[in-house]
Amino acid sequence: MEKILSYIKNNQEKYVEELTSFLRIPSISTSEENKNDMQTAAKFVADKLKIAGLKTVEIHQTAGHPIVYAEWMDAPDKPTVLFYGHYDVQPVDPVELWHSPPFEPVIKDDKIYARGATDDKGQLYIHIKSVEAWLSQVGKLPVNVKFLIEGEEEIGSPNLAPFIIANKNKLKCDSVLVSDTSLFAPGLPTITYGLRGLSYVEIEVTGPNRDLHSGAFGGAVPNPINVLAEIISKLHDKNGKINIDNFYADVIPLTKKERESFKKLKFSEKNFAKNLEVAQLEGEKGYSTLERIWARPTLDCNGIWGGFTGKGAKTVIPSRAYAKISMRLVANQDPKKITKLIKNHILKLAPKSVKVKVSELHGGYPVITPLDHKATLAAAKAMEKAFGKKTVFIREGGSIPVIATFATQLKAPSVLMGLGLNTENLHSPNEHFHLKHFNLGILSSAIFLDEYSK
Ligand code: BES
Ligand code: MN
Ligand code: MN
Repeated sequence: MEKILSYIKNNQEKYVEELTSFLRIPSISTSEENKNDMQTAAKFVADKLKIAGLKTVEIHQTAGHPIVYAEWMDAPDKPTVLFYGHYDVQPVDPVELWHSPPFEPVIKDDKIYARGATDDKGQLYIHIKSVEAWLSQVGKLPVNVKFLIEGEEEIGSPNLAPFIIANKNKLKCDSVLVSDTSLFAPGLPTITYGLRGLSYVEIEVTGPNRDLHSGAFGGAVPNPINVLAEIISKLHDKNGKINIDNFYADVIPLTKKERESFKKLKFSEKNFAKNLEVAQLEGEKGYSTLERIWARPTLDCNGIWGGFTGKGAKTVIPSRAYAKISMRLVANQDPKKITKLIKNHILKLAPKSVKVKVSELHGGYPVITPLDHKATLAAAKAMEKAFGKKTVFIREGGSIPVIATFATQLKAPSVLMGLGLNTENLHSPNEHFHLKHFNLGILSSAIFLDEYSK
């Protein structure tokens, strides 16, 4: 083990150089223009897996972006771990707020700045390097290893679940290890055991058949923007609860034990608010900030548009108004059920004067992962050894929909060994990744393989 660990410590510079090349590829999954870049990124991952010494490396084309699969299965009688990650990244806009171009990585204060640095290229690359360190230094792995790296996570993984269902045997494993979440604090080893799910809809409100002069018609016809704003304002009550019948019906309440363990974590609501420059936090009454983010469902308007939004003024009553609304769900809420509930609720709230259409964008199931599984314990111990601190267990508010698919289709528990930080601007301008955590991650992953084989 010592040999592997010192090899990793000595190769940090090479790892950062390689990550830089990976980050130069603008693999934005939602953008039609970047279709070829998705192929380039998949090929980059496949090449690095081959160089690492994985015996089987495949690129599977899909109706969307390719899936990279690899395996090394020469440890008979040992468990199999499947590493999952995503090489696709979010769009870069507003690009003018970046201090350096998003696909020209820059290192400053031991952090690497680029789109995808923390979510998820930097994090997934960790495991390719740990496997490489083992194979180059020892010639074999202590457990069996599979890799499943997709290019559509940020658009709801439309082609991954069908791939998993069609390849259950190929993907068979004892556990899944994912680095696509966050550390609770810098330098603090963290395992995430709960993620929220998602239900995402778009609303279209149509009033008059064309835009109208707001003086000639104003006051006499329904204004779709006014109506939409009114509908949205009715979705929460004054206590911050979501005002949809049966919305909370399947929610597993927080246990006393969980609430206590959240309270033990060092967290300042004041600093949290200060960092975001908001005068006051708000949310569902009766819950702390961590409880609200990690273990309670929420509803947020993610975008709203309609009418005249250009510079200056135009006096107009628009024909149409739109909003995108997402709900973060917690175990055991079912996104399909919730989407139906909100759809009916919005149609019920709509006045007869307008036409309202609610369409479904995408969804995902919430997850709670087992705390006592062999792989979870091995990962916690590995992080502890690498970081030199005790591992904390947390839940998080984000979503990785495929985790539920691993549980239901492969019957495999996932371990969420994230190395990002929520302050690293994932999905925002100036995304970055702490290189210290990149290196500690490679060490953690290498130690994990050893611990998991015991
Ligand atoms: N890596 C994130 C999820 C995440 C972020 C989990 C921070 C925990 C902490 C992932 O790439 C992501 O952004 N997921 C989307 C899912 C959606 C597009 C289906 C999300 O949470 O919005
Ligand atoms: Mn991610
Ligand atoms: Mn993401």
